[in-house]
Amino acid sequence: MTTRPADAVPPRTGIRRALVVVAAGSGTRLGRGIPKAAVRLSDRTILDHALDAVTAELGLDMVVLVLPEDSRARDQLAAAGPLLAQRRGCDVVTITGGGVRTDSVAAGTQAVQEHAQLNEWPQTVHVLVHDAARALTPAAVFGRVLQSLDSGANAVIPALPVTDTVKRVDSAQQVAETLPRAELRAVQTPQGFTLDVLDRAFTHIAALAENDAARLTDEAMIAEELGERVSVVEGHPHALKITTETDLITARGILEAQQRGQSRPASAATSGTEPGSPADGTSTVRSGVSPPAGLALPRVGIGHDIHAFAPSGEPTELWLAGLHWPGEQGLAGHSDADPVAHAACAALFSAAGLGDLGTHFGADTIGTSRAEYKGARGVVLLREAVRIVGEAGFQVGSISVQFIGNRPRFAPRREEAQQVLSAAAGAPVAVSATTSDGLGFPGRGEGIMATATAVVC
Ligand code: CTP
Ligand code: MG
Repeated sequence: MTTRPADAVPPRTGIRRALVVVAAGSGTRLGRGIPKAAVRLSDRTILDHALDAVTAELGLDMVVLVLPEDSRARDQLAAAGPLLAQRRGCDVVTITGGGVRTDSVAAGTQAVQEHAQLNEWPQTVHVLVHDAARALTPAAVFGRVLQSLDSGANAVIPALPVTDTVKRVDSAQQVAETLPRAELRAVQTPQGFTLDVLDRAFTHIAALAENDAARLTDEAMIAEELGERVSVVEGHPHALKITTETDLITARGILEAQQRGQSRPASAATSGTEPGSPADGTSTVRSGVSPPAGLALPRVGIGHDIHAFAPSGEPTELWLAGLHWPGEQGLAGHSDADPVAHAACAALFSAAGLGDLGTHFGADTIGTSRAEYKGARGVVLLREAVRIVGEAGFQVGSISVQFIGNRPRFAPRREEAQQVLSAAAGAPVAVSATTSDGLGFPGRGEGIMATATAVVC
C-alpha cells in the first residue's frame, strides 16, 4: 500500500495537477534594476523561495516557470527548473512571459494545455496560478486551494480579512463611501482553476478591447465575469506580495523569525493548526542560527586567499591590494591574482552567508563560471561582491585584510591601497602586512597569503 504523510493532498482519481509560476515581471517598484524574481532575499532568489512551497505532498504533475525576457535573469532563474524536477519528480517547463502579467499567465496556461495534450492527460486538469512575488507563501495555502478544487469548485482564491478600514475616494479626493469591512477580503495566490475555466477566461479576454481587458486584474475576476462561482479559502499573512523595498524588509524579517526556530509553515494540511506551529509541518529547514530576538547584530565574515609567485621564467605583473607594483615579481592566477582583494570578497560573502568566491565568480579561480570576470582586477571583483551582498540586503560596515609575504614592501603604499580598496567597497578597508619570519611558503618566498575579516549589517 502506498502511504502518504497525514498532511498530503492526494489528487482525486483521474485528475492532473499543474502549477504556473509567473516570474516574468520587471520589478519596477522594487527598483533594483533587475527582474524582481532574480532579486535575492537573504541567500537565494525570490523565485527559489517561491518554489520551496512545491512540496511532494501537493502531488503536482507539472510546473511551468514563466521567466523574464532579460536573458541574464532568465538564464539564472532557469537553473531552478532542473533542480525542481529532480527534487519533486514532476515535469518542469520553462517559458518566457509577456509584457503584462495576464500575457504571462496566458502563456503559462498554453504550456499546460500543450503538455496535457502531448501526454494525453484526462479531461480534468487543475491549474494553480501563482505569483513568484509571493515568495513565502506556505504550502498549506496551495493545499487548501487544491482541496477546494477537488471538492468541485471551478475557481478558488486564497484570501485574508482586511484589517484596515477601506474607503472609496472620488476624483475630487473626497470620500465617496466606506466599504463594509466584514465583507472585504485581500486576495492572494495561488489561485486555482480547472484548465477549462482558465481556457475560457483567456478566450474571453482575447475578445475584449485592450482598455477593457486591463480592468481584469486577476484570473478570478475573469472567471467571475464568465459567471463562474469563485470559492474562497484561507490565505496566509506570509503570502504577502513583495512589491516594494518595505515588503522585502518584511519578508526578510519573516525568514529570520523562521530561522530562529519557528519553521516555515509548509504543510499541505487543511486542519486548523497554527501557521508556524510544529504541527503545521515544514519542508524548508534553513541553515544557520540567528541572533537572539530583538537584537540586530552585525555579521562578521572571514576569507583567505593564496597565490603562488609566477615562475621567474614567466614575467607577470604584480597586482596586490588593488595596486600595480612595477618591477615586482607577479603572482600566478587566472584573474589578476590579487590575494588581498580576493580575501576581502570572500570575507564579504562569508559575512552575508552567501558562500565563497567560487559561488559567485566560478570554481577554482576567477573566470570559469562568469566569463566576464576572467582576468578582472581585484577592485572590480570587490565592487561586484559589495553589489551582491547589497542585493541580499547587507550593507558593508568595514573590511580588514592582512597579508603575509616577504615582498613587496607595503608600508609606503598602505594609504594608497586603502583608498583604492575603500572606494571600491564603499566602506573602510584596512590593509596590513607581515612576514612569517622565514617560515612556511611565504617565508620561502613562494607566494602570498591574505586573510580578511568583514563586518556587514
Ligand atoms: N509578472 C509576469 N509577467 C509580467 C508582469 C508580472 O510574470 N509581464 C509576474 C511577476 O513576476 C510577479 C507577479 O506577476 O511574480 C505579480 O506582479 P508584480 O508584483 O506587479 O511584479 P512586477 O510586475 O515584476 O513588479 P512591478 O509592477 O513593480 O514592475
Ligand atoms: Mg507589475
